[in-house]
Amino acid sequence: MTKKKILITGGAGFIGSHVVRLFVNKYPDYSVVNLDKLTYAGNLLNLKDVEGKSNYTFVKGDITDAAFITELFSEHKFDAVIHLAAESHVDRSISNPLEFVMTNVIGTVNLLNAAKSEWKDSLSTRRFYHVSTDEVYGALGDTGMFTEETKYDPHSPYSASKASSDHFVRAYHDTYGLDIVISNCSNNYGSHHFPEKLIPLAIHNIKSNKPVPVYGKGENIRDWLFVEDHAKAIDIVFHNSKSGDTYNIGGHNEWKNIDVINLLCKIMDKKLGRKEGESAKLITFVKDRAGHDLRYAIDSSKLQNNLGWTPSLQFEEGLERTVDWYLSNEDWLQNVTSGDYKKYYEEQYVKR
Ligand code: NAD
Ligand code: TYD
Repeated sequence: MTKKKILITGGAGFIGSHVVRLFVNKYPDYSVVNLDKLTYAGNLLNLKDVEGKSNYTFVKGDITDAAFITELFSEHKFDAVIHLAAESHVDRSISNPLEFVMTNVIGTVNLLNAAKSEWKDSLSTRRFYHVSTDEVYGALGDTGMFTEETKYDPHSPYSASKASSDHFVRAYHDTYGLDIVISNCSNNYGSHHFPEKLIPLAIHNIKSNKPVPVYGKGENIRDWLFVEDHAKAIDIVFHNSKSGDTYNIGGHNEWKNIDVINLLCKIMDKKLGRKEGESAKLITFVKDRAGHDLRYAIDSSKLQNNLGWTPSLQFEEGLERTVDWYLSNEDWLQNVTSGDYKKYYEEQYVKR
């Protein structure tokens, strides 16, 4: 295995921490630098198990700070970047779109500029991997799936900012010859997921006997993928895809939100020793999200056929493992739900 120095951005977040863990453990000859601003969504507790490893370094920093990013590239001489740092929550993007433009668009362009300038003599041999979302494709009706050819049609400020960053990454390939890869993944679930997103929020609230908020009628459909399967897909795409390529990543696992919540309630009843049906009494239908995309579904056959990736877990098993993780990591949950989380929760669910 060739030695590589890889910059992973957003490595203290949900997906990023799984990617860092996989790379640090699987590739002892690689050197992994995790750059993260440690916003409310980033937490070094997510990486406790790798923090002492000799091939891992953490750098606290902000991708919107162009001078700092230039300096970092010049100091470290990275061979590749895997870029995950982002503002990632749709509801927050509805309240504060500009923050999403700053981090997701400007932050990405800062990284591209630093790569372009630092790698000027080797643009086609160093790799810039941009991790993106299926939400750039917009919403589906009752049928069909997103393929790599689906036209971009983002609806939320979050998906618009991610679509914009994808376009910039592709533009740096087409214009300057930078070696880039983009993957667009469906909704992830698993351990270390910040409890503002549907699944960890529901687990937290069921456990605490608080109302479980379901937007609208709970009819919206998401295509759920276990986060460790996403990390494995990123590893495969990073090492094997052609320059300029795009891959969709998804689990062929579509669920209506209300069915996800009912399944979670059933699992939690069992785990918490409650009577069957007890947790489901907490389900509370609340005002719908503005511009709420109806359905996402990913066709990942290109990744499966070209690079041999397949999801490893059934949803029921993955969800049970996720619940087990949350129930045995009470400290983590306490830690991330103190402070700012309370203010966010109040504004999002109590005041409106
Ligand atoms: P997350 O919100 O859990 O983590 C984001 C991380 O980025 C945090 O550690 C945060 O501190 C860091 N960060 C934010 N702003 C930063 C800045 N200015 N400078 C440096 N670091 C900064 O997000 P996630 O769910 O792990 O998503 C990671 C990536 O994957 C994102 O690009 C997201 O768009 C994409 N994605 C997420 C999903 C999903 O279901 N969560 C699905 C597909 C794609
Ligand atoms: P979320 O986890 O925020 O991911 P995304 O918006 O990126 O798909 O939401 C998943 C689905 O769950 C989405 O249709 C919105 C819905 N939802 C609720 O019904 N209640 C909630 O409290 C949250 C956070 C989401």
